[in-house]
Amino acid sequence: MTEYLTDRFGRMHDYLRLSLTDRCNLRCGYCMPADGVKLEPAASYLTDDELVRLAGLFVRLGVRKIRLTGGEPLVRKGAVEVITRLGALEQLETLSITTNGVLLADQLDALLAAGVREYNLSLDTLDPELFAKMTLRQRFEPVRAALDALLDEANRDPNVRVKINCVAMAGQNESSLAELAALSLEHPIEVRFIEYMPFHGNQWDRENMLSMARIVEHVEAAHGPLEPIASHASSTAKRWRLDGARGTVGVIASMTTPFCSACNRVRVTADGAFKVCLFGNAEVSLRDAMRQGALTDDELAVVIQGALSAKHAAHAGLDVLSELPNRPMITIGG
Ligand code: 5AD
Ligand code: SF4
Repeated sequence: MTEYLTDRFGRMHDYLRLSLTDRCNLRCGYCMPADGVKLEPAASYLTDDELVRLAGLFVRLGVRKIRLTGGEPLVRKGAVEVITRLGALEQLETLSITTNGVLLADQLDALLAAGVREYNLSLDTLDPELFAKMTLRQRFEPVRAALDALLDEANRDPNVRVKINCVAMAGQNESSLAELAALSLEHPIEVRFIEYMPFHGNQWDRENMLSMARIVEHVEAAHGPLEPIASHASSTAKRWRLDGARGTVGVIASMTTPFCSACNRVRVTADGAFKVCLFGNAEVSLRDAMRQGALTDDELAVVIQGALSAKHAAHAGLDVLSELPNRPMITIGG
C-alpha cells in the first residue's frame, strides 16, 4: 500500500506528525498568537479511538515514524493512555514526542514503557528569567528537571534519543545559544537550533530571525570550529560536532535553506485536519470524513492520497510565506 503515500514528485511519506492537542501550558511568542487561540468545543477534537484509528491507517499506508506534537502533547487528558495504544501499533518503527517538558519528568517512565524512544525537548534558554520572559510563565524548574531526567536517560540507554530544540531569535536568546550548544559536549544528544518561521499572529520579521550562518557564528565564537557531519537524506537539520563532543549540534534552516525536495512528512492536527505541508493552508478534515462521511479505512486512504497529490514541490519562500494565510503554529504542532 506504500504507493498511497507517494506524491507527484516521487516523495514517499513515511513520517506522520500527530498533534494530540492545541492547548499548551506555555506561551512562547513565536508559536502562540498574542491574542491567543480560540477554544474549540471538545467535540471538535479527535477522540482517542479516532486518533488510534487514523494512526493505524497511516501505518498501514507506509508510515514508520510517528511524532506526537501539540500544542503541548502531555496536556491532553489521558495522554499516556493514548500514547500507549499508539506504541502498540505493529509495524510502527519509531514513536517520538516533541514536548516543552513542563509535565515530562513525572511521565517519563510511563512514556518509556509505552515505547517512546525519541524525545525532542523544546528549550530556548537555560536562564530562568529569560525563560519566563519568552514563555510568559514561571515554569523553568520542572523543565530543568525534565532536561536532567532526559540527559540521564540518554547517557544510560543508547536506544533513547534526545534532542533539544531551540528557536534562535535575534535580540532574545542569542546569549543562550552557546550555553545550550555546550550540552552536546558532555552528553550524547543533539542540540538543534531552529530558524524562526512565520506563522499566523507571531509577528515574524526578517530582523528577528537569526539565520543559520549567524547561529553557527555564535556557537563557534564560544566553542571553536564546528566539524560538519553527514545527515540523513530527509533530515531537516544540518549537523556538526564540536571538538571532542559526545553529541552533535544541528541547525534547521527552513527559511534560508529549505529542504522541501526531501520532505517525507505529513501532519494531522488535533481537530483531525490532514496537512501535507507545514507552510500550506490546504487541509482536508479526516475527522469529518470519519464522522459525517462514515468512510471505511480504504475510502479514507483515497481521501488521504487525493490530498497528497495536491502537495506542492516546495514552500513559497521567505518573502511570500509571512503573507500567506495559515494556522497559528500552536494549532499545527510543528
Ligand atoms: N519558528 C520556528 N520554530 C517554532 N516552533 C514553534 N513555533 C516556531 C516558529 N515560529 C518550534 C518549537 C518546538 C516545535 C514544535 O516547533 O520550539 O520545538
Ligand atoms: Fe507551547 Fe511549544 Fe508553542 Fe511554546 S512552542 S507555546 S511550548 S506549543
